[in-house]
Amino acid sequence: SNSTYQANLLLLSSTLPNKAVSNTTSLFATATTGDALDIVYALALCRGDTTDASDCESCVAAAFPDAQQICPYNKDATLYYDACMLRFSNHNFLLANSTEDQKSWITLRNNLNFTIGGDSAKHLLLMRLNSTAQAAANSSRRFITSRLGVDLVPTTVYCLMQCTPDLTPDDCAAC
Ligand SMILES: *[C@@H]1O[C@H](CO)[C@@H](O)[C@H](O)[C@H]1NC(C)=O
Ligand SMILES: *[C@@H]1O[C@H](CO)[C@@H](O)[C@H](O)[C@H]1NC(C)=O
Ligand SMILES: *[C@@H]1O[C@H](CO)[C@@H](O)[C@H](O)[C@H]1NC(C)=O
Ligand SMILES: *[C@@H]1O[C@H](CO)[C@@H](O)[C@H](O)[C@H]1NC(C)=O
Repeated sequence: SNSTYQANLLLLSSTLPNKAVSNTTSLFATATTGDALDIVYALALCRGDTTDASDCESCVAAAFPDAQQICPYNKDATLYYDACMLRFSNHNFLLANSTEDQKSWITLRNNLNFTIGGDSAKHLLLMRLNSTAQAAANSSRRFITSRLGVDLVPTTVYCLMQCTPDLTPDDCAAC
């Protein structure tokens, strides 16, 4: 509270949301504020098919106070919303060869098992997911949404994949 670090966060919260929407080709921005011990690295990314820039901007803007409420006194926080994501940190995770990012992942899942259609349906679906990931990785926004259906299964799998657009296609596909 009242630290230089927090002041730097406040400064970023007033500039990064607009910086992200201003990057109209990718709705993505990174920024660094402060120096030495109080430096803050930040990254904001909106959902790749966002057409409403103000949704993007307000999502990123709201993430700053949310982070300080949900993760109080943490210098490093990542928040994921439907419309955007925000990460800030005192560690430079923005470096291309940073290994920091490998530590930050979460999974949320439905605990029901995929039972219909047997192994061949599961395999087909995995292949389709895999080629969808390749398409996301090769797109300029590193983003894709897709409805996947396989003949053996009477349901549709709805799929959304997005990497930060600063990743190479190979790094995105690997992730
Ligand atoms: C932070 O600053 C506000 C306003 O100056 C003050 O009321 C508050 O007590 C300060 N908090 C800390 C933890 O120093
Ligand atoms: C805008 O997005 C591109 C990736 O599409 C990125 O390389 C660039 O750094 C972004 N600009 C800013 C100001 O962050
Ligand atoms: C899903 O499969 C695993 C492994 O076979 C099993 O342990 C688990 O209980 C199953 N979950 C449900 C919800 O049926
Ligand atoms: C997905 O594709 C990559 C290369 O494009 C391959 O290395 C990997 O084995 C594939 N995974 C599955 C489950 O097919």
